Amino acid sequence: MSTQMSSHNCFLHGQAQSIDEVNPEFETLLDYLKRRRDCDLTSYKRPGLMRRFQNRMQQLKIDTYQKYLQHLQCHSDEHLALLNDVLINFTGFFRDRNAWIYLATEVIPRIIASQRSHEVVRVWSAGCASGPEIYSVLILLSEVLGVEFCLQRVQCYATDADADALQRAQRATYSDLETTSIPPQLLEKYFEQTEQGYVFHRELRNLVTFEQHNLIKDAPLSDIDLLICRNVLMYFTPEAQEVILSRFHHSLKNIGFLFLGQAELVMNDRQMFSLIDFKQKIYTKEPELEDDSPIISKAHWQQVAHQLQGQDAFWQTIFESSSCDPLADLLTKLATEIKDTALQ
Ligand SMILES: C[S@@+](CC[C@H](N)C(=O)[O-])C[C@H]1O[C@@H](n2cnc3c(N)ncnc32)[C@H](O)[C@@H]1O
Repeated sequence: MSTQMSSHNCFLHGQAQSIDEVNPEFETLLDYLKRRRDCDLTSYKRPGLMRRFQNRMQQLKIDTYQKYLQHLQCHSDEHLALLNDVLINFTGFFRDRNAWIYLATEVIPRIIASQRSHEVVRVWSAGCASGPEIYSVLILLSEVLGVEFCLQRVQCYATDADADALQRAQRATYSDLETTSIPPQLLEKYFEQTEQGYVFHRELRNLVTFEQHNLIKDAPLSDIDLLICRNVLMYFTPEAQEVILSRFHHSLKNIGFLFLGQAELVMNDRQMFSLIDFKQKIYTKEPELEDDSPIISKAHWQQVAHQLQGQDAFWQTIFESSSCDPLADLLTKLATEIKDTALQ
């Protein structure tokens, strides 16, 4: 891929970098990593990438890209340590809580309404880091649809380029600190407390297939109902974002949803996705013409939403646990508003 940035932006936040900002020494370094270490970082935005290279170089007390290139040439495993700094694994359960509430009230009912009775709900967390994202979805689905439904009708895929993060995701064991964002009732219901930490529900965990997968070079999964790729695309150049988004478009079923991070926004110039909620950055796929999937009417999915919310388990849990939750007031207010408007 060219190291020069295209002026065509796929993301509002992905400002194109001017050619003047290209640093030849840095590009030589990237070229070496790509050709000699099979480590292609050319699709990442330069300012952030350079900062992370510099972090690594500081640890090694190396002050120029040229010297770091020599270091890479002499140490065949150095690129692995560098990757640890480049692939930022920061994550959390129910990160951006309001978006998850929206998912529970608006998106999951629509997915269920669009399904034929024998169909499986397929969820893909792309760039899953150490796993909280895919386990958050499973908790939501279980609260909204019931654990039994999930065990019979849900398939999950969690992928990341970082093998270490994937191993942590598979272990599904989290510290006190990592689980503070989970309402206590959900923590008690879906995790087992062990000496090593809180371990996620074994049967639900078995619904997840973990796979090392690079969004830039590996073939995408297919027939996905809900594709969660949060806080990943923002690290890529506009060109790379566009390639990934076009693959995501093919990945999704025709009534499929794309859930991005709060700072990520698709420019709709290729009509691949429609924004259904600006604040929560949730999109639906613009259907391909040859599709014969049933069109769901608003009345139909509202009816399903009503039936699902009849269980009220999700809301009860959130409300009851909210007294211990610093986000309680905001959450309760927003949850009530969303629930009311969803049923109007
Ligand atoms: C900031 S974390 C986001 C984790 C999670 N999605 C969330 O929002 O909490 C970014 C993740 O993207 C992964 N990542 C970076 N480049 C990737 C690539 N080319 N293919 C797949 N995953 C990648 C990183 O390894 C990291 O785990």
